[in-house]
Amino acid sequence: MSTTMSEQQFLKKSIIFLIFGVILTLFLVMMGFVNAGTIGQRVLDERNALVESDASTLLQPVGQINVGAIATQPVESIEVAAANINGGQVYQNACMACHAAGIAGAPKTGDIGAWANRIAQGSETLYTHAIGGFQGNAGVMPAKGGNAGLSDDEVKAAVDHMVAQSQ
Ligand code: HEC
Repeated sequence: MSTTMSEQQFLKKSIIFLIFGVILTLFLVMMGFVNAGTIGQRVLDERNALVESDASTLLQPVGQINVGAIATQPVESIEVAAANINGGQVYQNACMACHAAGIAGAPKTGDIGAWANRIAQGSETLYTHAIGGFQGNAGVMPAKGGNAGLSDDEVKAAVDHMVAQSQ
């Protein structure tokens, strides 16, 4: 009888263990599924966040470069250029070819007689003729000495340099 009881008890305990085990297994499996789902969602979230941040970091520099290159940098460099123009240097590069030797009727730099009447017109007229070009009695002064890449200020600085040398 006692043996039967212990067998029954053993059976009960076994069944309890079995049920507990099944419940535990189901619980673990469910946890596993929940975790898998959570991890999957996290991976998705992180990927979306990455994509969004990539997009924003891709967009920002484009905007910054555009703003910087078009709005900021040229203004600064133009200001610097205007302040640091070397009229003598511009003259050597773009004007000397004709004006040093008096090629094609160009008034020679340093020829006071050739420049007196021209200087008498005033700086603004000389600037206008040098920047826009000038057809005179002696010949043709090409606009900016034929160097369209020069800024107006650079041509003016070269005129100032030539006038200073020729009076
Ligand atoms: C291709 C030759 C040539 C080059 C290069 C040239 N000039 Fe001249 N320039 C002339 C000639 C020719 C005249 C005279 C035109 C006339 O009076 O008939 C002249 C005249 C001038 C005059 C006098 C304008 C006036 O109203 O009397 C100025 C100022 C002048 N040049 C400035 C410059 C400057 C500054 C440069 C350089 C940026 C330059 N030139 C480059 C040919 C040149």
